[in-house]
Amino acid sequence: MEVLTSRDIERVAGLLRCGEVVALPTETVYGLAADAFNALAVGKIFEIKGRPAHNPLIVHVGCIRVAEACAFLNPLAEKLIEAFWPGPITLVLPKTRRIPSLVSAGLDTVGLRMPRHELALAVLDALGGPLAAPSANPSNYLSPTEAGHVIQGLSGRLSYVLDGGRCHAGVESTIVDVSVPGRFHLLRPGPLQAEELEAVAGMKLSFGRHSENGEAVVSSPGQLKVHYSPRTPLFLVASPERDSGRVARVYFGAGANGHPDSVEADGYYLSRRHDLREVEGNLYALLQELDQRGYDAIEVVALPQGHQWAAVRDRLSRAAAAFERHA
Ligand code: TXA
Ligand code: MG
Repeated sequence: MEVLTSRDIERVAGLLRCGEVVALPTETVYGLAADAFNALAVGKIFEIKGRPAHNPLIVHVGCIRVAEACAFLNPLAEKLIEAFWPGPITLVLPKTRRIPSLVSAGLDTVGLRMPRHELALAVLDALGGPLAAPSANPSNYLSPTEAGHVIQGLSGRLSYVLDGGRCHAGVESTIVDVSVPGRFHLLRPGPLQAEELEAVAGMKLSFGRHSENGEAVVSSPGQLKVHYSPRTPLFLVASPERDSGRVARVYFGAGANGHPDSVEADGYYLSRRHDLREVEGNLYALLQELDQRGYDAIEVVALPQGHQWAAVRDRLSRAAAAFERHA
């Protein structure tokens, strides 16, 4: 895999224009990008990731003009765009005919976002068009937050990665469906908090996956219960449980004996001081590292319960769901 840098922006744009797929950094995670108007190029993304065709892709834009070529905006979307773009929020909106149905997995909506990352914006600007980009990991594996993770996961299947260092937000964007008037529905929790969105929208977000008659629905096709898991079995525990085999223990702040400075062999801290941003920023990188270290199991100890931790809980409970039957 060829590693490109900030000096190669024009080259990256040229590759994308020719229908190539390039992994590039955003503020959340690395994306596997292709020209969103080119169905042939988009097809390569599904192939490289091993992604099922029923899971739609997020489209990244660098300016409003391009957003309007992809989707029909509405007053609520415009308010959210004004407040949060560029930033980690994806808006699901009715799509225009220029977006191939492969991108939207046959839906008549498309997820749009403007990434808050200098290199991603530079590429979008040089290209002058939209980029479809899912996270740059093999389907079902952890999302990459460093170029090295992309290389680890996709070498042999992908030719180019643009290296922008570590992604600072570290978890995927918040997704809200605003595709019909009156709808303001959270499809995936992320770095932007529900309260922040509600304050700008002037209305309450709806949550969950239940239709009016109470039936569970999977409203975001890719949001299946099992997702984002490391290869090492991962378990959510209230306090350390396993006493056989090599077990890594992941903490959110204070260590096993409740003291922030305690040093425990095989103990790892997502943050020393229970800081949400720091935990989100380190989450995937730590799980990637633990996967390399060959542990028999990972115990995530005392998952925080506050509503602001929704994105972290969401990703970790999906990771654990892959191993529930072995528990
Ligand atoms: O932060 C992010 O959002 C990253 C970076 C690369 O931008 N991208 C990302 O993409 O996380 P991906 O493909 O891993 O997750 C996209 C999610 C999927 O769960 C998909 O089902 C949902 O977005 N999605 C995309 N288009 C949608 C649509 N039209 N309606 C509902 N859900 C949609
Ligand atoms: Mg993903």
